[in-house]
Amino acid sequence: MKRAVYPGSFDPMTYGHLDIIRRASQIFDVLIVSVLNNKEKTPLFSVEERVKILKEATKDLPNVEVDSFSGLLINYAAERDLHIAVRGLRAITDFEYELQIAQTNRKLSDEKLDTMFLTTSLEYAYLSSSSVKEIASFGGDISQCVPDFVAEMMFKKYQKA
Ligand code: PNS
Repeated sequence: MKRAVYPGSFDPMTYGHLDIIRRASQIFDVLIVSVLNNKEKTPLFSVEERVKILKEATKDLPNVEVDSFSGLLINYAAERDLHIAVRGLRAITDFEYELQIAQTNRKLSDEKLDTMFLTTSLEYAYLSSSSVKEIASFGGDISQCVPDFVAEMMFKKYQKA
């Protein structure tokens, strides 16, 4: 059975992430989308909220599981016996950063964790969670960036702030 992990911050999940999830779920028998619980960052959504969003958005994909992890990806992958990490590449600017992380993970894991890249569909290549948050914080239109229920959750957060 081919299993892979798609790790990320997903703060929040965008249509760009969902595109990678859908395509990776067709390649692997099981895809585990795992949210990084990074205590050093102050995210817009808690880990629980991000997991809930991902579960809702992937409920039509039976071979997709949503989870979360803290610490190093290689340790989480070893605990769950996962040997492939999936990441999306939008542009050459992503590549340098992603290459470094992929090579670090391969080395640190004694070659037990490899990374496979999917290139983001062109229609989502411009999207990032940070820009979606900035647009939403100014009340801009994010309907082409995230599902409606996520947009509503974001606007509620910014109204409270
Ligand atoms: O969505 P992001 O923020 O681009 O995802 C980055 C992520 C979560 C894949 C990466 O930061 C990560 O795996 N962090 C966990 C700590 C770790 O294992 N770092 C790799 C060694 S540099």
